[in-house]
Amino acid sequence: MPSVDRFARPLRSLRLSVTDRCNLRCQYCMPETDYVWLPRESLLTFEEAARIVDAFTPLGVDRVRLTGGEPLLRRDLPVLIASLADRPVIQDLALTTNGVLLARQARDLHDAGLHRITISLDTLDPARFQRLTRSDELPAVLAGIDAAAEAGFRSLKLDTVIMRGVNDDELVPLLEFARRVGAEVRFIEYMDVGGATQWTMKAVVSRKEMLAHIAAYYGSVTPIDEISSAPADRFRLPDGTPFGIISSTTEPFCASCDRSRLTADGVWLLCLYATTGTDLRRPLRAGASSEDLRQLITAVWSMRADRGAEERLGMDRETTLVPIRTLRKNAHLEMHTRGG
Ligand code: GTP
Ligand code: 5AD
Ligand code: SF4
Repeated sequence: MPSVDRFARPLRSLRLSVTDRCNLRCQYCMPETDYVWLPRESLLTFEEAARIVDAFTPLGVDRVRLTGGEPLLRRDLPVLIASLADRPVIQDLALTTNGVLLARQARDLHDAGLHRITISLDTLDPARFQRLTRSDELPAVLAGIDAAAEAGFRSLKLDTVIMRGVNDDELVPLLEFARRVGAEVRFIEYMDVGGATQWTMKAVVSRKEMLAHIAAYYGSVTPIDEISSAPADRFRLPDGTPFGIISSTTEPFCASCDRSRLTADGVWLLCLYATTGTDLRRPLRAGASSEDLRQLITAVWSMRADRGAEERLGMDRETTLVPIRTLRKNAHLEMHTRGG
């Protein structure tokens, strides 16, 4: 029986973080110098992660996305993918990566059964990439995108977080790049989520502004009419090229949100903005049966009333929701722990 929450939102998409580590330091996610990492022994094994997924699927979960940190840092990831791909109930199996390690792994991921891949790409300029991520790996990311395009995934997407004065002049170059490699680019509004310690509303480029900028260059932009719970609204350029905009900050989409997140150490979060979660690792390791886990998940989801991004919209526009001293004390509040 599919589970629904207090706003009748079904439980469908599960984002499974496989590590909290990352090999980049993106300005909008990990701008600080030091981080506290989850203890290694607390990370779910692949068997444990799969057991938790099996508790979710009878309740309606049919889409799983692997995230991090950077998921390709997790050793033997194709083993987990193969195991999840073996479950026909999971109709959509996707991965979000920064692409640095992708060139070598794309084929194995595809062959293990991964359906779709999304690669973060915020700039095409090497110097800007260095400033944005504190790394010189742009060529590796571009090679990763090529390898993914060749591997034959069902879909290939690029995620770009647009920040004012940082990369807001790259909308058109990124659209052109995405078209060339056969990917769909989605421009994401900069969000005040844990980790984004430099966020202010001034740095947010709204969906409205992005569309105006794109239309000024290409001519008319047509919305694609579709019903979906996905965060991206999709559009077409005059030549038919599709792209998306994720307006999490200025026009949140909480009303249709069917997503939840499992951190690498087994904490289940009902919202990107949630400040607490439900520990599923503890009952699992204490011997809970699948039925016990299912009951716990149903009980928690049925009480869900989260609408974090909508609430955030009504709050302070200058300071971040979570102050840095609070973040330092609780790694679970970090975006790199809960998955992007
Ligand atoms: P598909 O549409 O299935 O391809 O995936 P997706 O768009 O859900 O996944 P992706 O990981 O590419 O998410 C893109 C971005 O959308 C994330 O990095 C976040 O910035 C934002 N996002 C994803 N899920 C949520 C969510 O539940 N709430 C909010 N506010 N933003 C989200
Ligand atoms: N604002 C918007 N998106 C973010 N992500 C991480 N931090 C933020 C933020 N502050 C998302 C991006 C990135 C993915 C890993 O997480 O889409 O590509
Ligand atoms: Fe879902 Fe929370 Fe994001 Fe709203 S803010 S879309 S409820 S995760």
